[in-house]
Amino acid sequence: MGADELVIDPWGSAQSTDYGRIIDQFGLTPMDGESLPSPSKLHRRGIVFAHRDIDQVLEAQRLGNPFGVLTGLMPSGQMHLGHSMVVEQAKWFQQLGGDVSIAVADLESQATRGVSLAKGREIAMAEYIANYAALGLDPEKTHVYFQSTRPVVQRLGFQLGKRTNLNEFEAIYGFGGETNLAHVQAPLVQVGDILHPQLEEFGGLRPIVVPVGVDQDPHLRLTRGLASKTNWFNLKDSSSRGLLVSLSIHDENAEVFGQLPNGRVDKAKVSAVFDNVVEAIESLGFSDIVSSPKQGHVHIPSATSRDKHALRLVLLRLERRLGGLGLLAPSSTYHHFAVGMTGSKMSSSQPKTTLFLKDELATVEKKIKRAFSGGQATVEEHRRLGGNPDIDVAYQYMMYFFEEDDGHLAELNAQFRSGQLLAGEMKQHCIHRATEWMSELQERRDETAHLVKEFLAEDSR
Ligand code: TRP
Repeated sequence: MGADELVIDPWGSAQSTDYGRIIDQFGLTPMDGESLPSPSKLHRRGIVFAHRDIDQVLEAQRLGNPFGVLTGLMPSGQMHLGHSMVVEQAKWFQQLGGDVSIAVADLESQATRGVSLAKGREIAMAEYIANYAALGLDPEKTHVYFQSTRPVVQRLGFQLGKRTNLNEFEAIYGFGGETNLAHVQAPLVQVGDILHPQLEEFGGLRPIVVPVGVDQDPHLRLTRGLASKTNWFNLKDSSSRGLLVSLSIHDENAEVFGQLPNGRVDKAKVSAVFDNVVEAIESLGFSDIVSSPKQGHVHIPSATSRDKHALRLVLLRLERRLGGLGLLAPSSTYHHFAVGMTGSKMSSSQPKTTLFLKDELATVEKKIKRAFSGGQATVEEHRRLGGNPDIDVAYQYMMYFFEEDDGHLAELNAQFRSGQLLAGEMKQHCIHRATEWMSELQERRDETAHLVKEFLAEDSR
């Protein structure tokens, strides 16, 4: 690792906001929000700025095939505006037809923040789930569960731990010899969180998208790597044309794949597996399939990269029939962090840096009045030089949270930049919208309070 490489620390207090560099270094794909079906304000405004493999989710949506959303939050304090962004995104996917699972990361919170499981449950119910309901998630299509009471999540994490090691954790997270082991275990539990919705008892094989802040990307890199390493079949571009399917032999499948303990190969078994592969590919309508067990691959000359999702799914389904886990690497989307109200990072342990979803309206007003401003020091200077909406908290909070109307937002932006709109006036606009938004949320919290229990998955009630 070079000295100038970024390491993202999901538990750290510092956060890089050099999003361009994050995209480059970690191989994210920039998000083209405008091209999405009914983009939300987070998409239209470039706040959701990058993704991994979102196409497989959008394709499922287009074809009317199932897809799921999984995200999670640590119950470690009051829920604030920053947390609401993943809920907004989950809601957007839900409206497109996805089923939603949300982890209450109580094990992680206990391990990394010292919150007991009992306290975590209390916070989750009163703060988090109450707000999921108020923010408009559909209780019929949302399953909230606790990490601590879903053993399969922990089991899956443990099982997949076999395919990684401390060197990889050092490379991904920057861990060293002094790292607390809770920080080593938490990512594996999160791997279990992210992958378990694909298990048969949780909805079965389908694309899963994980909307998160970019600080969580290390967990996605880990999860995607681990899922691929367990796969029994590889799909890659052929050097001539089309796609190639090959077998990936490991302990779990050696027997099924005819690899005898004495190092010899059971040809009948190998050819049976190849026949299975050909059949699976044929089910998609391909007819020009060239099966070469000796060379170890099946060639589909007419397949293009557009066929990859469908091929991947039939191969994973075959893997499952043969006894494998059949795990699809998850997709993910990443949002920018809203600035903290003081101009530094938003943090639940520093109440002045954010608005809690349960803040009193008077508190909201006070916090916005004191918020970091992108205006000039004096009115005269502001009129002459104009303000900077990019760092003006009041403007930013309208853009991220409170103002739906793009036209109005663009007007405020231009007026502030030109100096026509003063910093105090911008704050008044923000207070007005924030007050509306927060009191509506409060109302909906009251209306939906009786639904909170319905969000809980059966194993978590
Ligand atoms: N690690 C996340 C946080 O710090 C919480 C979390 C746990 C999570 N499991 C997850 C997020 C799965 C996304 C997907 O808040």
